Amino acid sequence: MPGSQHEIVVIGTGYVGLTTGACLARLGHRVTCVDIDAAKLAAIEEGRLPIHEDGLLELVTAGQKAGGLKFTTDLLSSVGEADFVFLCLPTPAGPDGSADMSSIVDVIGQLKGHLPSECVVVNKSTVPVNSAKMIADLLGEPRVDVVSNPEFLREGSAVEDFLNPDRIVIGSDDPLAGERVGALYLGSRCPVLVTDPVSAETIKYLANAFLAMKISFVNQAAEFCDVVGADVLEVMRGLSYDPRIGSEFLNPGPGWGGSCFPKDTRALAASARALGRPMTLVDEAIGANDEHIAYVANVILEACESFEHRPKIGVLGLSFKANTDDTRESPALAIIDRLVRYPAEVVAYDRLARVEDTAGLARCDNLTDVLTGADVVAILTEWPEFTELSPSDFSGTMRGNTIVDTRYVLDTGLFAESGLRVVSVGRQRPRIDKR
Ligand code: UGA
Repeated sequence: MPGSQHEIVVIGTGYVGLTTGACLARLGHRVTCVDIDAAKLAAIEEGRLPIHEDGLLELVTAGQKAGGLKFTTDLLSSVGEADFVFLCLPTPAGPDGSADMSSIVDVIGQLKGHLPSECVVVNKSTVPVNSAKMIADLLGEPRVDVVSNPEFLREGSAVEDFLNPDRIVIGSDDPLAGERVGALYLGSRCPVLVTDPVSAETIKYLANAFLAMKISFVNQAAEFCDVVGADVLEVMRGLSYDPRIGSEFLNPGPGWGGSCFPKDTRALAASARALGRPMTLVDEAIGANDEHIAYVANVILEACESFEHRPKIGVLGLSFKANTDDTRESPALAIIDRLVRYPAEVVAYDRLARVEDTAGLARCDNLTDVLTGADVVAILTEWPEFTELSPSDFSGTMRGNTIVDTRYVLDTGLFAESGLRVVSVGRQRPRIDKR
């Protein structure tokens, strides 16, 4: 679409930056992605992406081939002609949980005095409320607008979420700058909310906090179902028909994790406390998640109690959810840590997960090695290949007969017919009247 193409610089090539850059190039813009890590950029240029993200490699390759997507470490020469500069930088949690803004502050310090006038700085990083103003003050360039444009990309479906968003949120004090950013998302047919920067930044944190609270509620409900003898899947089905509750994000699991919910809920809780108005529900959701992870580990360990020898536990899945290789704050790793300390022998299989060495954990590169001789098997990530497993994959291979399915992917009745016991939180059915 000539005429609506723009020169865009994307700073940071993590999953948000790389997805944003590749998708903006796909939309016809001329994009330069900047990162300080030359080795990472060289790998990307050779088609080796630092993350596993469905459809991203294809977009990066197509963008490079068409000439609309470039990579460089040279920040200052890349921004000379920029219409838009996207900040996609990490904001990790500092010691007190608050977001560490040092990468952004550092980059803004370098950009100061080098941005063309009429350029718009678009912040996609998840930042404390009022950061757009802080960035504008640091830049000190009245002719450069700073706009907040939070991302709502799920790892594993980030490309799909970018190209088919459910909403676009733009926070700008200058209506024209907000409109210019909105126009970048050519052809998106979703609600576009143009608001002030403080509201846009708040939307990002509250969206993640709300979703994290929802899952903490579901997981605590699953524990309640264990006590009363209800079936959590039936219960959630019953809730889901109420349109005010909805059917999305009602899946119980081993706890929430990843690079966003834990960090963002802690940052929101820290800033609410610092502002003198604690968000106690968010604090509770974080605490409930930690307790749920411990509860799930105990369910696995209870299945080991009958063994007199040191049990061998086979773990299926290490990433924090399916379709990503990311293990940051993965509940699987927190659970494994407890199993290892039991002490159990823990062997794990995950085709893609990137894991630093985890004390006491042996990694296998195939399913059979994990299942062979296992006293108990625990499914911790809902990878489709685990959903497809049948009883014959386990019986005759495992030593024991209990599978703890923390992701509700197996057909309990079918497995029972083969003498295999599938245990899931909220489906253990001790009747309340038998307690
Ligand atoms: C999350 C949000 O969903 C995105 O909208 C947001 O843009 C992103 O954070 C971010 O801030 O960048 P993501 O961390 O990729 O995305 O993961 P989700 O799909 O939201 O899952 C988060 C955790 O909740 C996972 O551990 C997942 O297993 C768990 N979960 C999710 C459940 O246990 N049950 C569910 O029903 C849904």
